[in-house]
Amino acid sequence: MDIAFLEGVLQKNGYNSEALIMILQDITANYNFLPKEALTYISQRLNINLSQIYGVATFYKALSLTPRGKYIINVCLGTACHVRGADKIMESLEQRLNIHEGETTKDWRFTLQSVRCLGCCALGPVITVNDRYHGGLDREKTLKLVEEFEKKA
Ligand code: FES
Repeated sequence: MDIAFLEGVLQKNGYNSEALIMILQDITANYNFLPKEALTYISQRLNINLSQIYGVATFYKALSLTPRGKYIINVCLGTACHVRGADKIMESLEQRLNIHEGETTKDWRFTLQSVRCLGCCALGPVITVNDRYHGGLDREKTLKLVEEFEKKA
């Protein structure tokens, strides 16, 4: 565990227990998930009950207690995207990456997740890859996108 990194995160957030979500986001930005050791450390340093931290960590979809891939793909399966073929986008990704929703590829490059509306329904079907939105997708465009990220990884 990188104690210097964790201390930097705590310092940046003023050692303030009310900034717990921001602290967890900063840890996630570095590790792509929340390592147990980091949560234990934060709990001790901020004098917050570990169960309270786990409560927050499991509430927000952007946070994860399990390791995730370099690229986190969120496929919107909300109503507006669904009627525009979101299921086919998910199916294409599952086949292409050889994983199911909620899983990560063996090479740790991709994690595939679903969400219920990304707030830009007019662009559907929409996915995000990490923080970037990609709309107006069809099977072909989706597979091309994966290819581009594979080249970057
Ligand atoms: S339903 Fe997909 S962005 Fe709203």
